[in-house]
Amino acid sequence: MLSTESCPRSLAKDANVAIIGASGGIGRAFFDRLIDDSGISTVYAFSRSAFDVPSKKCAWHQIDIENEGSIRRAAESTEEVPLDLVIVAAGILHEGENLRPETSFKKLSANNMQKVFAINTFGPALVAKYFLPKLRARHKAVFAALSARVGSISDNRLGGWSSYRASKAALNMFIKTIALEQTRRRPLSVVVSLHPGTVATPLSAPFTRRGSDRKIFTPSQSAAYLIDVIDHLTAADSGGFFAWDGQTIEY
Ligand SMILES: NC(=O)c1ccc[n+]([C@@H]2O[C@H](COP(=O)([O-])OP(=O)(O)OC[C@H]3O[C@@H](n4cnc5c(N)ncnc54)[C@H](OP(=O)(O)O)[C@@H]3O)[C@@H](O)[C@H]2O)c1
Repeated sequence: MLSTESCPRSLAKDANVAIIGASGGIGRAFFDRLIDDSGISTVYAFSRSAFDVPSKKCAWHQIDIENEGSIRRAAESTEEVPLDLVIVAAGILHEGENLRPETSFKKLSANNMQKVFAINTFGPALVAKYFLPKLRARHKAVFAALSARVGSISDNRLGGWSSYRASKAALNMFIKTIALEQTRRRPLSVVVSLHPGTVATPLSAPFTRRGSDRKIFTPSQSAAYLIDVIDHLTAADSGGFFAWDGQTIEY
């Protein structure tokens, strides 16, 4: 049964949230769930494409996570407000005719690998660089990057999708490394990778067949599950990789 609560109750009262990639399927669902919650003070929505700002509680700022200056300016736009939750929901699996997940190593292309890593790996790592110093210090505060189960090295039994898999595996390594460093500075911070499940969004659309027996969530369901996972995380979980149901995924 999905919770009707939105805000993770374990965060500070009047929490401030930043969503990077708020225009995406899952990013928007996080936004829609968090914006109306009385426990949330401000939602900072960041997206590459335009975003309608439906509430005075929302501040929007453009971001291109392929551009470090853009990430720095986005972080600066939150001024001195302490952030309680930062969600990185930007990502790429395919783009146009020429960038598709590889069905074989023979289809690897330097340009496509660079693009996928720029968005799925380097972007979120640079978001951590500029947004982690903004996390609230004296209370639980969470930095969560959306990864993917297919980025688990130990769970890879099929091959294929090399660039996407490798970009998420490398993202997980950044998250683990950054979490260890962050724990020394801010022991109450939680830095994690999250797997949202298979979710009906533009990213998954070409690969989710009707009638498949795979569980496919709506973005709203996935966001609700992940908010519940975030609520139950403690500092001891920092550096971990968790699925929508709270289960640990091995790297
Ligand atoms: N859907 C699934 O089944 C699934 C499964 C596992 C993991 N995930 C992960 O979940 C995350 C969200 O995916 P989704 O399904 O919500 O995908 P989506 O609907 O395609 O949204 C992707 C988002 O990433 C943004 N983005 C791409 N490049 C960007 C850049 N350079 N700068 C800023 N934003 C950029 C897009 O912005 P624009 O609106 O400007 O294009 C869009 O907001 C991704 O990291 C994905 O890998 C999804």
